[in-house]
Amino acid sequence: MSEWQRRHILSLADFSPAEYETVLRTASGFAEVLQRRNKKVPTLQGQVVTTLFFEPSTRTRSSFELAAKRLSADTINFAASSSSLSKGETILDTARTYLAMGSDIMVVRHAQAGVPQAIAREMERLGTQVRVLNAGDGQHEHPSQALLDLFTICSVVQPEQPSLSAIAGKKVAIVGDILHSRVARSNIWSLTAAGAEVHLAAPPTLLPPEFAQFADTPIPGSNAQRQLHVHWELEPALENADFVMTLRLQQERMSQSLLPSLREYHREFGLTRDRLRACQPTVKLLHPGPVNRGVELSSDLMEDESISLIQPQVTNGVAVRMALLYLIGAAVPAAVPA
Ligand code: NCD
Repeated sequence: MSEWQRRHILSLADFSPAEYETVLRTASGFAEVLQRRNKKVPTLQGQVVTTLFFEPSTRTRSSFELAAKRLSADTINFAASSSSLSKGETILDTARTYLAMGSDIMVVRHAQAGVPQAIAREMERLGTQVRVLNAGDGQHEHPSQALLDLFTICSVVQPEQPSLSAIAGKKVAIVGDILHSRVARSNIWSLTAAGAEVHLAAPPTLLPPEFAQFADTPIPGSNAQRQLHVHWELEPALENADFVMTLRLQQERMSQSLLPSLREYHREFGLTRDRLRACQPTVKLLHPGPVNRGVELSSDLMEDESISLIQPQVTNGVAVRMALLYLIGAAVPAAVPA
């Protein structure tokens, strides 16, 4: 197994194919553990994993918490609404408080881009060994979501031992509110680095032309370049697609009206069984959740297990997050007894 060098996981922009392979291999080991009757391993026994969520979340926070518990870590959950932030404490003061309680890994979500990075810098400045994992920062990145998406796609093609060869050359369409989506940004990095041909599709108000600038750019640790295409209509993205990922319309992040109406959006970009006929017959559908039923996709598609990977995404999320906590956590030097 290649040696894991990364101390924090903050962005996938500089991840190499070798690192993705390590994540896939490690996650498939943990997926196997999660099939057992006793789903717990002692890997992070004695370590403290703190989830610092300054923004609401259902699945990501619970998934990280369960992943940490399956690794036998002690967990502390911080939720902004019930915290001293409302008494004026700063974000870095909050992080220092959890440092003082002995946190080894901090899993951070914030509505503003750059907060997990700022906490990681502060932890290094203080000379600590704390690891930081970005669980979603503003519109910037959501690495663990993109990694569980990658694992889910590769597992469909290679259920026994998912690897990047499963996705190389496949066409993946990403449809919807790309402008506001940290999930889209992280997935663009991971899927293109994995060798997929990625097609983005959204109305022009939700997909600025600047996204095309990442096409043909180099992939770290590889001689290949990123294959990325931008479309302002759905059809060319869906044509012969092997996988389609649709994203939630993030109305809470829309400062102005970027859409005529939800009904109009569904008519132009909503996924239906009929629309998917343009894709490969084996097409599979992904959505990071939460879903606006009847907007991004029709309810019947969402529930069709022969097409929808939405539930496997959630299930795989635990194994992938165990892998990430393990990879960064195992690198923490053991405490030396006094
Ligand atoms: C996403 C997020 O929070 O960025 N959800 C998630 O983590 N599963 C996407 C979204 O909120 O639409």
